Amino acid sequence: MDSFSLPILFFLFTIILAFVSGSRDLAGDVLRLPSTQASRFLHDDNIQGTRWAILFAGSNGYWNYRHQADVCHAYQILRKGGVKEENIIVFMFDDIAFNEENPRPGVIINKPDGGDVYEGVPKDYTGSDVTAQNFYAALLGNKSALTGGSGKVVNSGPNDHIFIYYTDHGGPGILGTPVGPYIYADELNEVLKKKHASGTYESLVFYLEACESGSIFEGLLPEGLNIYATTASNAEESSWGTYCPGEYPSPPPEYSTCLGDLYSIAWMEDSDIHNLRTETLHQQYKLVKERTINGNAYDGSHVMQYGDVGLSKDFLYLYLGTNPANDNITFVDENSLKPPSKSVNQRDADLVHFWEKFRRAPEGSLRKIEAQKQIQEAMSHRTNVDNMVQLIGKLLFGIEKGPEVLNSVRPAGKPLVDDWLCLKTMVRTFETHCGSLSQYGMKHMRSFANICNAGIHNKQMAVASSQACISISGSPSFSFSA
Ligand SMILES: *[C@@H]1O[C@H](CO)[C@@H](O)[C@H](O)[C@H]1NC(C)=O
Ligand SMILES: *[C@@H]1O[C@H](CO)[C@@H](O)[C@H](O)[C@H]1NC(C)=O
Repeated sequence: MDSFSLPILFFLFTIILAFVSGSRDLAGDVLRLPSTQASRFLHDDNIQGTRWAILFAGSNGYWNYRHQADVCHAYQILRKGGVKEENIIVFMFDDIAFNEENPRPGVIINKPDGGDVYEGVPKDYTGSDVTAQNFYAALLGNKSALTGGSGKVVNSGPNDHIFIYYTDHGGPGILGTPVGPYIYADELNEVLKKKHASGTYESLVFYLEACESGSIFEGLLPEGLNIYATTASNAEESSWGTYCPGEYPSPPPEYSTCLGDLYSIAWMEDSDIHNLRTETLHQQYKLVKERTINGNAYDGSHVMQYGDVGLSKDFLYLYLGTNPANDNITFVDENSLKPPSKSVNQRDADLVHFWEKFRRAPEGSLRKIEAQKQIQEAMSHRTNVDNMVQLIGKLLFGIEKGPEVLNSVRPAGKPLVDDWLCLKTMVRTFETHCGSLSQYGMKHMRSFANICNAGIHNKQMAVASSQACISISGSPSFSFSA
């Protein structure tokens, strides 16, 4: 029992701490924003070209419910907006709707009082077909590079408009996928350049939610590609899950998992209720930024813009279409913001689920023991990975300089790392000696990048990793699946 009570106590302490410092004044339920765009109306009703979209949820597991819920919700917005199913390509693992933990079988919701968003979502790329390679192939319209899936790709022409939305865990320089290799920032930006070089779009909008998502474009996405990107967070901070159990607003009581992510629900709940012919990308960016900072930077993050920011004068209609039911609801009349909500760091949302599962399970049940084990494993994995990376830093750079080198952040506008191949090699070397980084361990990508930036060779890394990880885990093959 001893080994169990300590992590739980620590966890409870963290929760209480978060609660105390996160509580806030909810007076003044609605904020009104001024708008200067009232007259820019009915400009591009006759758009040329076709709208295309790729929606990508990078996780699996019931504790990650929210990412697939986000993607399903985005699909419904596009469909109601008039975008054709044949032009929307959905990547989602699809293990949520009929998960044994789901209290409403066959239904997925993305907000506490929200309706089903799962119905009608096409199963283009599911399960082990939700990969970085298929994502690149689908965007490039290259069918021969696909593995599995429906074969749907962005078969776009020069006048077309493309919308990409990704939501999941990430880390500096990387985005997660459910089973396969990460999406690395350098590869993604190369694919975007290739798509531009093929002359098969007029403009492209990329909405990205993940921890440290700014690092995906920072210093990497040039201007001139006709690409406008916004990210949930800057290059150095977490992004946030919301509608979590025990938070405000909280999901219906039968849900033991978070229903959405803060940046994602901000752009989607805004798109749900407006005539998108009258709202520009820039107006939405400002609203989403305000809602995602969540009253402070303590449990919110800084929404960022990259690429051709001038494109943000476009109306959302050009990318998302618009729901005819909202035709009389112009942005100007209805630009209200929700009050700050309680949120959970993306990286702690799995613990919230395991804790809720533990708390709700009957005393002495198998389920309680299972949940207890999940919490224990998650906590010890975290401690192990953190300690291993810290120790590697000390072995490579010395006791004092180690932490300093690992944690250093490059100035804005500079990419995370110069040699991406080095970064990938360092990750492989670490995982060979120390076990899988898993979702939580993605946070240490900056440390690996800094090891590369300091000119460390892979051989030195291998020696340090094997020493550090044998001494910490007692077993070089230690691993954890999250
Ligand atoms: C499509 O993918 C295949 C297989 O990866 C590759 O050999 C080919 O060059 C790609 N085609 C284009 C036009 O990029
Ligand atoms: C919008 O307003 C017009 C004019 O009042 C009305 O004819 C139309 O039905 C309204 N549309 C919607 C979707 O409410």
